Amino acid sequence: MFFKTKENDVPRNIPGHIAIIMDGNGRWAKKRGLPRSFGHSAGAKKFKEIARYCNKIGVKYLTVYAFSTENWKRPKEEIDGIMNLLRDYLKDSTNFKGENIKLRFIGDRAPLPEDVRILMENSERESDDATGMTACLALNYGGRDEITKAVQKIISEGINEQDITEELISSKLYTVDYPDPDLIIRPSGEYRLSNFLTWQSAYSEFYFDKVLWPDFTTKDLDRAIDEFNRRNRRFGGV
Ligand code: IPE
Ligand code: IPE
Ligand code: MG
Repeated sequence: MFFKTKENDVPRNIPGHIAIIMDGNGRWAKKRGLPRSFGHSAGAKKFKEIARYCNKIGVKYLTVYAFSTENWKRPKEEIDGIMNLLRDYLKDSTNFKGENIKLRFIGDRAPLPEDVRILMENSERESDDATGMTACLALNYGGRDEITKAVQKIISEGINEQDITEELISSKLYTVDYPDPDLIIRPSGEYRLSNFLTWQSAYSEFYFDKVLWPDFTTKDLDRAIDEFNRRNRRFGGV
């Protein structure tokens, strides 16, 4: 889809699916002499701002990495803080209400606290009728965990060897309803995927930025989209 941001702008191709690794919250807080939890709450606010902007410019899917299967290694206090932020966010009835954004989650829900799981289901149900952008939160998500669980499902369903195709595997992943990400953005100066969308990122374009997630602006997102527009995606062709 083509979208004109400013009068003099050339129309640009808006990626249908943007995925963001929301990293750098802890360092953002540390720089300010604040506890890490302040960074997480600044990061959560930033998510809302960027999600609204994505919906406005016509992004169809936004997937954000909020908590990885490896993040359980962090101190209990930090994990509890993140879960509380998530509770507040999901309870906040102003979240995307009337903005036509569909809220969805990917990841293994079972180890999450029960009340959080119920809040997640409620917010999915409440946004069921939205026809705008799908905002997908990756919570207790790990790419390897996702593939492992897909293999377990395939075996438990007794699927025959000759029926195992790429499409079949894709259909057993949390992302079954979503296209692969076109553009994956990682702020905070780290150049790795950290187990995010392992299968789905096979042909994604990557954009790395030094800025810490809570400082990330809509201008930074525009820069990433401009860079995406300069890429030549060949998907193995010529
Ligand atoms: C990302 O920020 C948020 C989560 C992983 C939950 P970090 O907490 O990883 O921040 P840094 O990387 O330590 O700065
Ligand atoms: C990736 O960030 C996970 C999220 C942003 C939720 P991490 O901070 O956990 O990744 P590493 O440890 O730097 O690879
Ligand atoms: Mg980090």
